[in-house]
Amino acid sequence: MSTNNNKEDNIEYKDKSRRYHEDANAGYILPDDELENDRLHMQHYAIKLAFDGNYDAPVEEQLKQGITVLDGGCGPGPWTMDMAKAYPNSKFHGVDISDTFPNEIKPSNAEFQVHNITNPLPFPDNTFGLIHQRLLLMGLRKAEWQIVIENYLKVLQPGGWFEFTESTPDLLNGGPNLTMLMGFSKLRDIANMKGFDPEVYKVLGSLFKEAGADKVRSRQLMTPVNHTNESGALLWKDYKIMFTSMKPFVAKVHPDLANEEAYAKFIEETGEECKNYKTHFIFTRCYGQKPVN
Ligand SMILES: C[S@@+](CC[C@H](N)C(=O)[O-])C[C@H]1O[C@@H](n2cnc3c(N)ncnc32)[C@H](O)[C@@H]1O
Repeated sequence: MSTNNNKEDNIEYKDKSRRYHEDANAGYILPDDELENDRLHMQHYAIKLAFDGNYDAPVEEQLKQGITVLDGGCGPGPWTMDMAKAYPNSKFHGVDISDTFPNEIKPSNAEFQVHNITNPLPFPDNTFGLIHQRLLLMGLRKAEWQIVIENYLKVLQPGGWFEFTESTPDLLNGGPNLTMLMGFSKLRDIANMKGFDPEVYKVLGSLFKEAGADKVRSRQLMTPVNHTNESGALLWKDYKIMFTSMKPFVAKVHPDLANEEAYAKFIEETGEECKNYKTHFIFTRCYGQKPVN
């Protein structure tokens, strides 16, 4: 497990009461403590419900028969474990910069290890039938996406599939609070300054193709926030915790929200605003295949 790591030189987005990863080369900004892990488990089910499944790539038969699967930037492993349980003949590996993995309570076909996915992966070439990655938007810097895709293609088997699910900063029917929080403000500039690319979802398909992938497909999904269905309710719970985690970051550009109570009130109002405006988040899912020859 990583320990509390609030170095002065890194203080700009960190909350002293939270714990963060210790990988000096990784740009990821969110905490890796228990509250964050609970959020990621909840988010997993919200996204699974919204997309009506854990993946889009045409791999169901292979998963049933038995393939080796990688989950890059797996967090505490909600996708890895859900999939390992659903497909007992397949073998699942999760890697992440933070060791927040389940130790004992996990399916026997799931393994985890600490690894930064911008480095060559610790597996032999041509190992995996499927590689999954989800929600690295605030983790990978602009130039790192191509590197990660190339790392994945190396360890994918010919004919193997890889798939990314990402959130986007775009909203359908976004109100003023949420629009500000999602980055149509100075916040987006800070994301850019830290080297992230909030628009990466627009180019994922091209990045896949440039790296040599075949059969690239993507879909966008508009999903309700805090209204209409169970995934809407879960997604708002999830984002409420995430926005709370992002407070130090938001307060940098909105000093009027630096006060704890003012910020909590602003987030509560944002939830109501989503209901009233019938706001939808926009997610994207993109997959491709490593050429067979
Ligand atoms: C928003 S969480 C998503 C976790 C998981 N993919 C999910 O959907 O539940 C992003 C995860 O990416 C990890 N991460 C960020 N940068 C990384 C890197 N360079 N290599 C490996 N993991 C990374 C973080 O530690 C965090 O667990």
